[in-house]
Amino acid sequence: MCGIIGYVGKASAAPILIEGLRRLEYRGYDSSGIAILNGSNTIELRKRSGRLDNLKDLLLENPATGSCGISHTRWATHGEPSDENAHPHSDQSGRLAVVHNGVIENYKILKDRLTEEGHEFVSQTDSEVLAHLIGKCYDSSTVSDSKDRLVSAVREALPQVSGTYGIAVLHADIPEFLVGARLGSPLVLGLGRGENFLASDVGAIVTHTKDAVYLQDRDLVCLTPDDFNIEKIDGADSTYEVSTVDYTPEQAEKGEYPHFMLKEIFEQPTSIGNAFRGRLVDDQASAILGGLGLTPRELRDIDRIVLCGCGTASHAAMAGEYIIESLARIPTEVEIASEFRYRNPPLDKNTLVFVISQSGETIDTLAAMREGQRKGHRVLGIVNSVGSTIARESDGGSYLHSGPEIGVAATKSFTSQVTVLALLGLLLGRMKHLSVEYGQNVLKELRELPAKVEQVLLQSERIRQIAIKYNDVPAMLFLGRQFHYATALEGALKMKEISYIFASGHAAAELKHGIIALVSEEVPSVFIMPKDSVYEKNVSTLEEVKARKGPTIAITTEGNTELEELADEVIYIPPVMECLSPILAAIPLQLLSYHFSVERGCDVDKPRNLAKSVTVE
Ligand code: G6P
Repeated sequence: MCGIIGYVGKASAAPILIEGLRRLEYRGYDSSGIAILNGSNTIELRKRSGRLDNLKDLLLENPATGSCGISHTRWATHGEPSDENAHPHSDQSGRLAVVHNGVIENYKILKDRLTEEGHEFVSQTDSEVLAHLIGKCYDSSTVSDSKDRLVSAVREALPQVSGTYGIAVLHADIPEFLVGARLGSPLVLGLGRGENFLASDVGAIVTHTKDAVYLQDRDLVCLTPDDFNIEKIDGADSTYEVSTVDYTPEQAEKGEYPHFMLKEIFEQPTSIGNAFRGRLVDDQASAILGGLGLTPRELRDIDRIVLCGCGTASHAAMAGEYIIESLARIPTEVEIASEFRYRNPPLDKNTLVFVISQSGETIDTLAAMREGQRKGHRVLGIVNSVGSTIARESDGGSYLHSGPEIGVAATKSFTSQVTVLALLGLLLGRMKHLSVEYGQNVLKELRELPAKVEQVLLQSERIRQIAIKYNDVPAMLFLGRQFHYATALEGALKMKEISYIFASGHAAAELKHGIIALVSEEVPSVFIMPKDSVYEKNVSTLEEVKARKGPTIAITTEGNTELEELADEVIYIPPVMECLSPILAAIPLQLLSYHFSVERGCDVDKPRNLAKSVTVE
C-alpha cells in the first residue's frame, strides 16, 4: 500500500504534492513526507508521523521550495509509524531521496551487508535500504552524465532486491529530473504541458492532466518537465500507450456529504444502474458482458466457476456463488485470493476463474490471477478501477463503472460487484435451462433496483437512531441464511472496520452450534431476514435469541409488519426477487455501520490500521 507522487515542472512542487497526497491517503495514512530539490541543489526533506495535516503544519513552519519533488503517504509494514520511518528516505550521502510503495523482502540481508560497508541507517524500514543501495550504486558509478548515472544506479540496484516496489527517486545533483520504476506496485506517469507527474494512482494527478501512461511491471521511467522515457529496468524496450483518464476531479470530492462513505452509499442508485446499463438484452431475456471475450460455445462449455477476491470483494463473490448456482446451475466456488495463490487448487479446462477487485491492485488478488494464468487458464476480472493492473493483465472481464470509491470501507463497489455477478448468472442461465419468463423477470427486477435503493436510503435517519441507541455495545452478531449469509458477513465486516465494534457474521442456523454462547443483553443480533424461502427459519432463530434476552435488529421486507412484535428494531427493504436481495439488504447494513462509526466518534473514511488498496502481502 502507501501512496507516492512525484512532480517535475515549473510550478511550486509542494502544494501539488500535498494535494496529490490528500487524494492518495486512502492508500495509507500513518505518516507522510516530501523531498523537494531547491534552487541551490539541496534536498529539502520534511516528514511527520500521523495524518497529512501534521506534514502541512510542518511545511507552514518550515516551507520547502522548488519545482521538483517526491512525496509519500505511508501504511506501515516494517517499523512503527514515526517521523524516522516516514518516507522519503535518504541514502548515505543525504543527496539522494527515495519514496517506495511495496515490500523489500530481502532487506535484512542487504541492510547487514551495507552496514558492514559503513552505511548508517536511521529507520526500521525496508525502504531505506533501497535508498542506500541506489545511492551506493550512484556514488561508485563511472558514468559521467549525472542523469545516465542515476538511471544506471537504479538499474544496478533493483535486480538486487526481491519483493515489490513502486518507487520515485531524485538526486540533489540533477535538477528537474526524476526516475521511477515498478514491480508489483502500481505506478502511473501523468503527462502535462511543461510538467510531468508520477503517482500510485491517477486520482492523485487528475486535477493536472488526463493523459496518463499506466506503467507495467519492470518499467523504468525518467521524467523531465518536457520529456519522458520508458524502458525496461534491464534496458530492453517497453511498449506503452497514453490513456485518457475517464473521471473528473469532482467525482473524487465529498461535495455536500460529511464523509466519502456516506456519499458513496448514496451514489448506489446510480452506480448499480451503471453496472447493468447497456448490458440487458430484452429480446433474448439475457445479459451481455462483451468484455468476457468468450464465444457462446465457450460459455456453454463452462462447468465450474471459481470466484476469487479479498475482503468485501470475497463477500460479493459469495453472494455471486449463490446467485450463479441458482440462475445457471453451474457449480461455483469462492476462494479467498490469499489462499488460492498458495493452495494450488485443481482447475480444469472448463473452469472459468474470475478475480474480483474494486481497486484492481490488491496484491493477493493479483497474485491469484497470475497463478491461474501461469497454469494456462483464462482469468477474467470484475474490476472498478479502469487501467488498474488487474484490468490490464486479466484475460477479459467486466468493469463496474462505479466511479472512484474513496472511503476505505467498500460500499458501492459491493453492490455493483453483486449486480455484475447477477448479470453473469443470468447470461449463463439463459444458455442453459433458465426460461424466457424468468430471464425477463430478472431484467425487470434489475431495472427496478435503483428506485428501490432510493427507498432504502430514505431510512438513513431511522438507522441513525438505532445506532444512537446501541452505540456503546461491546459486540454484535450478524445473521442471515442462503443469499444473506454473504450479506451477514459483509455487515459484520463493515461494523468492525469503521466502528471498531467486534462483530461476526454467520449463517443464521449456525447460531446454535456455538455462537449462541455470545448472546446476551449487551450483544445485539442483526438479522437479515426478508420475506423469502427461509424467512420462517429465521424467525425461529430470532426467537432463540430473544429467549436469551439478546436485543434484535431485523432487516425485512416492507409490509411484513409481524416483526414489529418480535424484534426490538425493524428496518425495511422493498420486495425484490430473492437472488437480487443481497444488493438491497447490504445498504441498511452500510448505513448502520456508518452511523455507529459517526456516533462513536471514529474516523469513518480513514479507519485505524486499514488502507483501501492493500498492495502488500
Ligand atoms: C482492503 C479494503 C477492503 C476491500 C479489500 C479488497 O482490505 O479495506 O475494503 O474490500 O481491500 O479490495 P479490492 O480493491 O481488491 O476490492
